[in-house]
Amino acid sequence: MCGIVGAVAQRDVAEILLEGLRRLEYRGYDSAGLAVVGADKILQRVRKLGKVNVLAGSVDLDVISGGTGIAHTRWATHGEPSESNAHPHVSLDNIAVVHNGIIENHELLRAELKDRGYHFESQTDTEVIVHLIEWELRTANTLVEAVQKTTTQLDGAYGMVALDKRDPERIVVARSGSPIVIGLGVGENFLASDQLALLNVTRRFIYLEEGDVAEITRRDVSIFDLGGEPVTRVVSEASSDHDVADKGQYRHYMQKEIFEQPTALKATMEGRINNDSIIVESIGANALEILSKVDNVQIVACGTSYNAGMTAKYWFESLAGVSCDVEIASEFRYRKFVTRENSLLITLSQSGETADTLAALRLAKEKGYMSAMTICNVAGSSLVRESDFAFMTRAGTEIGVASTKAFTTQLAALLMLVTALGKQKGTIKRSLESEIVQALHELPIQIEKALSFDKPIEELAPDFADKHHALFLGRGEFYPIAVEGSLKLKEISYIHAEAYAAGELKHGPLALIDAEMPVIVVAPTNDLLEKLKSNIEEVRARGGLLYVFADEDAGFTESEGMKIITMPKVSDIIAPIFYTIPMQLLSYHVAIIKGTDVDQPRNLAKAVTVE
Ligand code: AGP
Ligand code: GLU
Repeated sequence: MCGIVGAVAQRDVAEILLEGLRRLEYRGYDSAGLAVVGADKILQRVRKLGKVNVLAGSVDLDVISGGTGIAHTRWATHGEPSESNAHPHVSLDNIAVVHNGIIENHELLRAELKDRGYHFESQTDTEVIVHLIEWELRTANTLVEAVQKTTTQLDGAYGMVALDKRDPERIVVARSGSPIVIGLGVGENFLASDQLALLNVTRRFIYLEEGDVAEITRRDVSIFDLGGEPVTRVVSEASSDHDVADKGQYRHYMQKEIFEQPTALKATMEGRINNDSIIVESIGANALEILSKVDNVQIVACGTSYNAGMTAKYWFESLAGVSCDVEIASEFRYRKFVTRENSLLITLSQSGETADTLAALRLAKEKGYMSAMTICNVAGSSLVRESDFAFMTRAGTEIGVASTKAFTTQLAALLMLVTALGKQKGTIKRSLESEIVQALHELPIQIEKALSFDKPIEELAPDFADKHHALFLGRGEFYPIAVEGSLKLKEISYIHAEAYAAGELKHGPLALIDAEMPVIVVAPTNDLLEKLKSNIEEVRARGGLLYVFADEDAGFTESEGMKIITMPKVSDIIAPIFYTIPMQLLSYHVAIIKGTDVDQPRNLAKAVTVE
């Protein structure tokens, strides 16, 4: 969930570890710690509750010296966030371990280890790992062997790293369900849970595969597969634009990422559309052949990515005439489902590491889907590597926990996929293809226009800051956009927000309406506008406070209790992407007034690599 960094070098590594943690902090952040050992074989460990800068403030770089070290930012799953639960955990002051993920059989292992005389200092599941390694090392010849023997006893998901202070030349790392990347330096080597952590020290990386255990020294990296056999893994080079620039003129990453959307969308569409047609081959290897055979689509995703899938369902069915089911990955993976004939499985994910989505993909591969593709933002991520083909969104690294540019680029990618699918199947005719592609070409400029509403939307924000609840309404493909709007508001401003398909209002939620309940409506001109207007009247009649995002053709007039935000009219096809922008801006400005931690909201992590 959180961040792991490690290094074996001749130089002191504490500063490298801290910088790596800072770069990963957006992923999880309730506590942090590091352990460093040098030639003197003394294990120096510092752990702190809170953010990385609290840890950095307690690490005296003149004192903490040594060339071998491991570090961690924790997102607690077992045991409260506290200094004693923070990683690294140690056994008998010899072995230190950091761990991402969950050990499911920790209770059983804990009981066994206690019987063997081990004393537990934390409530974490992680601590069983370090004592097990200590135990296995009593009979094993090497730390690698001890880690291999340990991993066979662990159920669950982990990325973990171990060091033994008596042998400070090496660290050993294992991957099972939680990503680990090794960074190759010159006369020094590194590792992390994400290459982002290491981009200031190297651009050459090896991604470990599931079940791999690796020993890393200053000069060598030896990798062993699940069966314990030595293996070589591909070395890949990170491109220079991989590094995340600073926030520049922006106050928060989220704000920067909102404003990057025109560029991110352009990048996502580049080389994939011509003047008036879609380049089907750009969807992925064998796309021509696969798409022509697809009769059903099954989308699986979580959170914001799920909302993108829900929006695309409307497109798959109304534009391409292909049936589309969308399911939350954590439900799909534990449900007995029927695989329809000629079904394409699509996972959607910004990070490519979401545990539930990955598990759903693995399950689907056994269940007879004709192909599994992913729409993903991180090259080299687990979903990309394990899918039959990947269609990359090119949003650039998204740091803010609240997903913004990843969502709109997913939508653009999905719209291109729908077009390619309909084209291959002959359900999207030339004129419709051209209309969709024209709309896509206009998208970046239209998004610029939506962003120009920043100021008027900021002026609405004070109305929300003292509210405890908010309701979002939409119909058709704007219903999932309303859902996404409500998710943004709740995750960064902590205001309880719900979204409803507006037609559902009278079936229950209408009871909630009063002057304390702001109601945000996504209401562009389309076939459902008149129906939506009736729903709006239902709210007005009960004294609700309405904020209606509409276009100039929609014919709303502002009145007591009803504010109208009049946006330019855009093509119906791209309107869901367009109306996402005011929702993002609204939640951002409300969070600013509330003074919450916009980029790192409480209790959340960027990549959810545990169940
Ligand atoms: C988005 O704002 C959320 N932080 C979250 O819902 C996220 O979209 C979800 O965890 C899925 O992540 P993924 O796209 O990386 O798979
Ligand atoms: N399960 C471990 C803990 O709670 C690791 C959590 C994490 O991935 O940060 O300490």
